[in-house]
Amino acid sequence: MIIAANRAPLRYTEDEGWVPAIGGLATALLPVLQEQGGVWIAMQEDAKAPTRQPYPPEAPDLEIQRIPLSAQERTHYYLGMSNRVLWPICHYMLQHLELERAYMEAYRTVNRRFAEAIVRAYRPGDFIWVHDYHLMLVPHLIRQAIPDANISFFWHIPWPAMEVYRILPWSRELLQGMLGCDLIGFHVEEYVENFLESARYLLGAEIEDNRVLWEGREVRVEAHPIGIDVARFEQLSEREDVRREAERLREEMHAEWLLIGIDRLDYTKGILSRLQAFEQFLKEYPAYHGRVTFYQVATPSRTQLESYQQLKREVDEAVGRINGFFARDSWVPVHYRYRTYTQEELCVFYRAADVALITPLRDGMNLVTQEFIAASRSGVLVLSELTGAAHLLREAVLVNPYDRDGMVQAIRTALEMPVEERIERFRFLKRTVRELDVHRWARRFLEAMQQRPSEV
Ligand code: ADP
Ligand code: G6P
Repeated sequence: MIIAANRAPLRYTEDEGWVPAIGGLATALLPVLQEQGGVWIAMQEDAKAPTRQPYPPEAPDLEIQRIPLSAQERTHYYLGMSNRVLWPICHYMLQHLELERAYMEAYRTVNRRFAEAIVRAYRPGDFIWVHDYHLMLVPHLIRQAIPDANISFFWHIPWPAMEVYRILPWSRELLQGMLGCDLIGFHVEEYVENFLESARYLLGAEIEDNRVLWEGREVRVEAHPIGIDVARFEQLSEREDVRREAERLREEMHAEWLLIGIDRLDYTKGILSRLQAFEQFLKEYPAYHGRVTFYQVATPSRTQLESYQQLKREVDEAVGRINGFFARDSWVPVHYRYRTYTQEELCVFYRAADVALITPLRDGMNLVTQEFIAASRSGVLVLSELTGAAHLLREAVLVNPYDRDGMVQAIRTALEMPVEERIERFRFLKRTVRELDVHRWARRFLEAMQQRPSEV
């Protein structure tokens, strides 16, 4: 198996050495590749990271290869094309779009580097699995070098409506890049349909059911909703130390109800709208003062981008404003931490919380949702309709994150939900999260990869 993704699945920490990286993609795929054995190709994030690294060091079952990039290449390809162009377009956040030709030029160069590294690592019979929006051109480049390679793609973010996707000046070139694959996976049918529509309209490709007929080949496009390592989160949350910490956290909060939000600090996650909705809730329902506390944890992300720096300032300001206005005696309505936690620590939050507020303005799937359900005992999930997760977890309290009044009512519904209803909803949610499990997801995707493409 050859996996290509922008990020390596490990990051270096002073205390613990190499540990699994943060983010949906790395969290999901590391166990999969360890099971399969193979190579993971990524960009070199920092000159100190080895270009070749066996993992785990004591008994390696995979090798991580890192592609060195110049500072300018990295800036234009990663911060520019990937995160100033593709990320906002795919999340329908055009106010953050910053188009520049130089970004696309670097993106072409870096995608070519990835393709060359894959071709070098390739042995006949290997499966090649490319991930996410950083590497859209890679499949076509590999196809040119190895016409009979078995190439799959998994797209971890939304694929937007064709009318939004077409805003990209390079929409056709990028689509053609992806159509070098045999199989393309998305989280949910909506993204599959949007992709097929983009291929049909922008390239004039013929579509048959869920297949794109392209350059004499057939490209299958399927929904494969990703899950988490359910057993790990269930076990962690039952650990004695985690249970104790969860109790302690509840005591410290001086409140009957604890609400949590856990996200990368990203404008797609709706953190600011969530804080504003909570503020509005406190204004409208003073009876809850002193009785409900909201704990928002945000992990620093893409901190070199101005839009993320600005979001940080706005979140800081909103937290200060709410606490300045409402706090009294020992009650602080919003607790906010801007840092990264271990999975054990996250489980403390999941276990301690009565309600999780997961309200992105747009999210491909949202794995925090599933982690919360796996680790909570019977908490209430308030979930944005505009996430992939909402297509599957219908028993959540579903909200439109743009509708502040609706959010206020959803908070109230969550707090006032009768206990039988809460337990019943949770039971269904838990069953779905177990079905979505990442190991099953990987097995199903690998099975789909093994179907040989037909000539057309
Ligand atoms: P995204 O893929 O956009 O980052 P997901 O919700 O799908 O969003 O995945 C986020 C991942 O990052 C989850 O596995 C979650 O546990 C992790 N994560 C989020 N916030 C934190 C944090 N503050 N500390 C550590 N890990 C975090
Ligand atoms: C999302 C993307 C991943 C990305 C992660 C963290 O999950 O789908 O590809 O790795 O966010 O973002 P970063 O820019 O830090 O890699």
